[in-house]
Amino acid sequence: MRRVSLTRYLIEQQRDKQSIPSDLRLLIEVVSRACKAISNTVAKGALADVLGSAGSDNVQGEAQKKLDVISNEILLEANEWGGHLAAMASEEMEQPHQIPHRFPKGEYLLLFDPLDGSSNIDVNVSVGTIFSVLRCPDGVTEPDEKAFLQPGTKQVAAGFAVYGPSTLLVLTFGDGVAVFTLDREQGSFVLTQENVQIPEETAEFAINMSNQRHWEAPVRRYIDEVVAGATGPRKKDFNMRWIASMVADLYRILTRGGIFMYPVDAKRPGGRLRLMYEANPMAFIVEQAGGAATTGRKRVMELQPEELHQRVGLVIGSKKEVERVTRYHVE
Ligand code: F6P
Ligand code: MN
Repeated sequence: MRRVSLTRYLIEQQRDKQSIPSDLRLLIEVVSRACKAISNTVAKGALADVLGSAGSDNVQGEAQKKLDVISNEILLEANEWGGHLAAMASEEMEQPHQIPHRFPKGEYLLLFDPLDGSSNIDVNVSVGTIFSVLRCPDGVTEPDEKAFLQPGTKQVAAGFAVYGPSTLLVLTFGDGVAVFTLDREQGSFVLTQENVQIPEETAEFAINMSNQRHWEAPVRRYIDEVVAGATGPRKKDFNMRWIASMVADLYRILTRGGIFMYPVDAKRPGGRLRLMYEANPMAFIVEQAGGAATTGRKRVMELQPEELHQRVGLVIGSKKEVERVTRYHVE
């Protein structure tokens, strides 16, 4: 079997398919190297004293874990000096991070959720890193928040890593989705799946049911119908999964289909997940795999962001199910 490393895959995308420029290739190499470093740190757990709280809050007012802070640092340090970036933005930092003047600047903007699924860090359940790449607007040399406020359709690359039983990297450049598995002995990501396709229909749903009393009518209707199973209007039994790590829930959906929802509700009228660090990159990947992503009302990737740390309602996964939930909202 031909064994294709991430490096070889990226070089072939650039040289043979000419689907990506060389500086984007190098940027993704660096991001993947940072993910390897985060994977190693996560895997050491209590042995490296990286579990537990950092004793600080992030810009969203959420308690930061030590590993949130460490992962953020790893991504910043790895990506500062390469010359591919104009600036970075992170879920863990209030303002965009400028490239220090001693390093050259590039034409891309990198956004990331350094460690998704923070509530799972201390209990040894999969967590991950989500990232999105945009182009820096022409003529902008010190990108402020405004430079980042581009709709998801402008993403030139997006991906996520899952630090689970295996460490995985899921990647898209807008030409399908590829999955790489970390070979720990070789220290390299190896291509393990290409042209990922999400089944259009599904019998599996993911939602935090403890929010049920806050939901809007269309979400209630959808969940009531799937929970009614074979004797209900859907005429089949559904199963439920909720890992509380979006990366792990979404990787399951890429593998065997399903729908994931964190909708707006009475308790969180703006939604829970972040548009720029979570919803947009995941929407890009899922659409590239034949799925769909909406807010319940609109296509996520067409939203014009108004704030860097903006939240959004999210309905994502198998196309027909997402369309159904969206139809219920419109009706
Ligand atoms: O980053 C936000 C996040 O941790 C997601 O990874 C996950 O899907 C969700 O929040 C879990 O939310 P809750 O704590 O409501 O289950
Ligand atoms: Mn997250």
